[in-house]
Amino acid sequence: MLEPALHPALAPYQDKIISAANAAKLIRPGQHVFVGTACATPRTLVAALENLPNPPDDVELVHFITTDAVPHRERWSATHYRHRTFFVSSDIRAAVKQGLAEYVPISIAQIPKLMALGRIPIDVALIQVSLPDEFGYVSLGISVDVIPAALERATRVIAEVNPLMPRSMGYSTVHLSQIHHLTPVDTPVTEYLHPAVKVEAVERIARYIASLIEDGSTLHIGLGRIPNEALKYLEDRRDLGIHSDVITDAIIPLLEKGILTGRKKTDQRGKIVTSFAIGNRRLYDIINSNPLFFFEPIDMVCRPNMIASQHKMVSVTQAFAMDLTGQVCSDQFEGEYYGGVAAQGEFLRGAARSPGGKPIICLLSTTDDGETSRIRSALHAGEGVVIPRADVHYVITEYGIAYLFGKSIRERAIALIEVAHPKFRAWLLEEAKRLGYAPTDQRLENLHAYPVEEERTLTLKNGRAVLVRPATSSDAAAIRELFHHLSKNDVYTRFFQRVQGLSNREVQRLCNLNYETEVAFIATTGPREHEQIVGQACYFLNPSTNLAETAFIVEPSWQGSGLGSALQRRLMEHAKARGIRGFIAEILPENKKMISLAKNCCDHVATERDEETLHVTMIFG
Ligand SMILES: CC(C)(COP(=O)(O)OP(=O)(O)OC[C@H]1O[C@@H](n2cnc3c(N)ncnc32)[C@H](O)[C@@H]1OP(=O)(O)O)[C@@H](O)C(=O)NCCC(=O)NCCS
Repeated sequence: MLEPALHPALAPYQDKIISAANAAKLIRPGQHVFVGTACATPRTLVAALENLPNPPDDVELVHFITTDAVPHRERWSATHYRHRTFFVSSDIRAAVKQGLAEYVPISIAQIPKLMALGRIPIDVALIQVSLPDEFGYVSLGISVDVIPAALERATRVIAEVNPLMPRSMGYSTVHLSQIHHLTPVDTPVTEYLHPAVKVEAVERIARYIASLIEDGSTLHIGLGRIPNEALKYLEDRRDLGIHSDVITDAIIPLLEKGILTGRKKTDQRGKIVTSFAIGNRRLYDIINSNPLFFFEPIDMVCRPNMIASQHKMVSVTQAFAMDLTGQVCSDQFEGEYYGGVAAQGEFLRGAARSPGGKPIICLLSTTDDGETSRIRSALHAGEGVVIPRADVHYVITEYGIAYLFGKSIRERAIALIEVAHPKFRAWLLEEAKRLGYAPTDQRLENLHAYPVEEERTLTLKNGRAVLVRPATSSDAAAIRELFHHLSKNDVYTRFFQRVQGLSNREVQRLCNLNYETEVAFIATTGPREHEQIVGQACYFLNPSTNLAETAFIVEPSWQGSGLGSALQRRLMEHAKARGIRGFIAEILPENKKMISLAKNCCDHVATERDEETLHVTMIFG
């Protein structure tokens, strides 16, 4: 006789059906019990295990993310078992603090290997699956991740069968011959939504991230509210793809607008490749039986060569803090464990090796109360490094983008101070000097966020495109390169003396400006990671006359192609928007190009000449 509640699809498997309470009684003392992941955690089985009147001794529950399945009461864990976890979500944090749970800092991609070797022993696996199909296959649904590896090792597999678990496509099917017991459940699949973002800073970071993502990129968007927020600003991009350990409901709008075509992907072209999904019911419904999605075990998704081979692979992950040399703290912050190593390293390194790839780490500049800088001279005791500084490329805060790869300790420190919160910059600069990370004469003039909205891509009359963007003090080394490309005559016409090099102070004068009365733009070519500065233009405002003095440098092979004029127009646009009346320029009489440039600035140009210099005044209309 069938139990009335038994789903017809389970009728042929009556001999496997077991209640959660009876399944829990099968766990023996000393066993290592794997528990399925995240929103697919078999919470009915976990609850039954926790509710046993006599919990078996020395049982260890092994898991990745358990999304609120482990019982806890406020700051105290209510679990009856020891735990071994690879990720510290909120339900397990108290247990870690109380010494009931071991946190294992490890790349999630390495876990299948350790399970296969028996280094992480697994006796029993508790998982959640979909209903079986007519051939006796269930789907692991929204969580494949480390589960196939756990199933390989477990001698007893107990699965909650949930009719609401979507059938995902890919390597996510398991034949019922591999599952010993089935516990039917009829509960909604757990949803997890990132907390709504109202903080303006998060939006700014998201916009900076989006500004780096080009059409045709393949994305890895790690867990965390900031990386997921960035997806909102990609709605004008084309042909993006997904190759990511995890996906969330933040992909839905891009999917609906036809942006996630995956057309440029190198591997699994057109498919959204992932290992687990965390999100809302809508996402689960979209995944259900949808061949667009391809779920793979975690060690497959994270294969370094596969990630590296993807077209323009962009990895976006979040950090809790960073020191001035670029060491990334992302699993333990201020003495507490949050999250885990996950696959941050694999995706960052993969993106770094991908053609046109971009590894991006983002963080808020301060803690939520605004009291502490997350960019620190040194990480504090109780803060762990997950990503070594050598692997860090882009770092984004709400104050801008720092690019650290290949930079010296000093260059990194300056770049990171520039994106720190302004109220901590003076202190950080002092700390950097104390630690020998910054020259003693280093100053930082700009206390604002990097104005990404001031960037312009311009096409010159020779057809070549340049990015004209505000200069930052991190541009110092590249500005010095530009200087050394100039001819002796160019140096003389720009600096009015025959200098052979630029001191730190002089080079800072060309890029380290306050953006209130002093402004500098640079023109660059090439990808941001290897950009070359081919032009620089600046103005210095005299508040008493409301006129600004301008000066320009254009790399010799770019002179005569309209770059000087383009830079002048850009300076003028910027100055006019700030109510500045006009420009003045001091020009050597033999500097014909600069004279033409100045005269063409606007309709009202007056020149005066003394013995050595031409004084040009340009009043904007
Ligand atoms: C002056 C300088 C910034 C001009 O930059 P550029 O990219 O060559 O300028 P453009 O190509 O936009 O040309 C600007 C004007 O100079 C003219 N010009 C170009 N080459 C010229 C030449 N050999 N002789 C006379 N005029 C010339 C152009 O025709 C243009 O005028 P137009 O708009 O009436 O045609 C650049 O030559 C330079 O860096 N010089 C060395 C540093 C310097 O002197 N800086 C100025 C100190 S204030």
